[in-house]
Amino acid sequence: MPDLTPAVQITALVKDFKTSFKRQPLRAVDHVSIKIMPGEVYGLIGPNGSGKSTTMKALLGLVAPTSGRCAIFGKDSLQVDSRNDVGFLPENPYFYKHLSGAETLRFYGKLCGLKGADLKSRVQEMLALVDLENARDRRLGGYSKGMLQRIGLAQAMIQEPRLVILDEPTAGVDPIGSRQIRDLILRLRERGITVFLCSHLLEQVQEVCDHVGIIFRGKMVREGRLEDLIAIEDQTEIIIKDATPELIAEIHAKISATQGASLVRMGKPRTTLERLFLRETQTDRESS
Ligand SMILES: Nc1ncnc2c1ncn2[C@@H]1O[C@H](COP(=O)(O)OP(=O)(O)OP(=O)(O)O)[C@@H](O)[C@H]1O
Ligand SMILES: [Mg+2]
Repeated sequence: MPDLTPAVQITALVKDFKTSFKRQPLRAVDHVSIKIMPGEVYGLIGPNGSGKSTTMKALLGLVAPTSGRCAIFGKDSLQVDSRNDVGFLPENPYFYKHLSGAETLRFYGKLCGLKGADLKSRVQEMLALVDLENARDRRLGGYSKGMLQRIGLAQAMIQEPRLVILDEPTAGVDPIGSRQIRDLILRLRERGITVFLCSHLLEQVQEVCDHVGIIFRGKMVREGRLEDLIAIEDQTEIIIKDATPELIAEIHAKISATQGASLVRMGKPRTTLERLFLRETQTDRESS
């Protein structure tokens, strides 16, 4: 029997913040509901200030909801032990700059109750997972932004959580670093770990998420399976390699002769700017 308890269940969440300037409180989250089943990768997207981080913080019990409720694996977020199985990468992670990568992970591992040989092997495993073995003894003060985000991800994973919450995991990271983080998220998905992330990189969200929610001014405006959301129902795409001009002419003629069908566009498929950038700049990169 599969476990039918959602990894994340946010029900009609409302969060108002008091503001000193206005008499009316600011409604940051307005009746948002999100359900994420175990093993799903869910991407929350929306413009700046739309309520993504606040939703995540309410789920983590870091801000108290004005109304509505949040639960993790069936436990209310107001209960401290709801966070036992959760790893979190905050929006602006703060690390001790004088600690090395390995020391940082040891520190967080100890906080989660790991010790001895278990702690040592887990730190090693996490450094390998985020590709920072070569930089393990360098101080975080000398890490690049991409390396810091990756150590943040390793920190979020240290106690083998079943749910990982990532608030802008690729903020300030270049496309190659972003791609490494994307690959890491895909590895988490392969391991069956549930991921709840928010990001402004729509291409990335499209590549890693199976469910997506679009939040705007605190309200969920679209939600569902990625394939359903982005499919254009009445269109079909055919990509042909080495097509001859004759074949193309034939296809044109066939479409013109078919009642009700029309050609929307024919041309060379375009690579995205991100892919072009990666192709041109991807050489043997050290952990940078
Ligand atoms: N502690 C707080 N006190 C007052 N207002 C807040 C607080 N935290 C967030 N807000 C407000 O709530 C709204 C939603 O903020 P939130 O940080 O959730 O947005 P976001 O979608 O994460 O934005 P971004 O993409 O910039 O990270 C914003 O208008 C913000 O100013
Ligand atoms: Mg945010």
